[in-house]
Amino acid sequence: MVQQSVGKRALQRRDVLRACAASSLSLLAQRVVAQALPALDQDQDVPYVVTPQVVVDAMLEMAQLKPGDRLIDLGCGDGRIVRTAARRYRVLGLGVDLDPSLVRRAQQLAHDEGLQAYCRFEVRDLFDTDLNHAEVITLYLLPAVNLALRPRLKALKPGTRILSHDWDMGDWLPQETRMVQAPDKPVGFEKRSNVLKWIIS
Ligand SMILES: C[S@@+](CC[C@H](N)C(=O)[O-])C[C@H]1O[C@@H](n2cnc3c(N)ncnc32)[C@H](O)[C@@H]1O
Repeated sequence: MVQQSVGKRALQRRDVLRACAASSLSLLAQRVVAQALPALDQDQDVPYVVTPQVVVDAMLEMAQLKPGDRLIDLGCGDGRIVRTAARRYRVLGLGVDLDPSLVRRAQQLAHDEGLQAYCRFEVRDLFDTDLNHAEVITLYLLPAVNLALRPRLKALKPGTRILSHDWDMGDWLPQETRMVQAPDKPVGFEKRSNVLKWIIS
């Protein structure tokens, strides 16, 4: 969970709202975050919201995956990012999520799609996940969670690519951004997503 410096505790709704208010998020984006928050379970830092497949495809294209790359999706939900990377690019992927039912669903889908050799899914806190063995990290979290992860991401090996759906990293500017039309996006009024990419130097 976020807030490593003050010990393990569930992120409070007010913490996220304060972080949003202090950030450069537009009022509209802050409203979207606030609307999503009541769905947070006790230990979750982020509610479950799927990334539309068209956005998954854009994230993986921007990641410029190569054979041998390893990908980690932090907060993997039904594993669609890891499963798509395995299916399209044959890269090894790990997805972690706090919700055991989502992890079971991701494992079942990977099994049904014949992708078990490429995909691993674990019930694990994203803040307790070793990121050092990945060339690509994908995120669909929240601004405050991105910021809490930022020091660990910046310390990863040169060449590591980080892709974030919608949320930035404060004043750590991305090298590339892409706006993707996403008609089936389940949150927000504007049916489009922003994909942001950082490359560790
Ligand atoms: C916005 S969803 C993204 C799901 C998936 N990555 C996607 O893009 O479709 C965020 C996910 O993070 C999970 N999550 C929230 N807090 C977490 C934590 N501290 N550690 C691991 N997973 C967490 C939630 O259960 C949820 O499935």
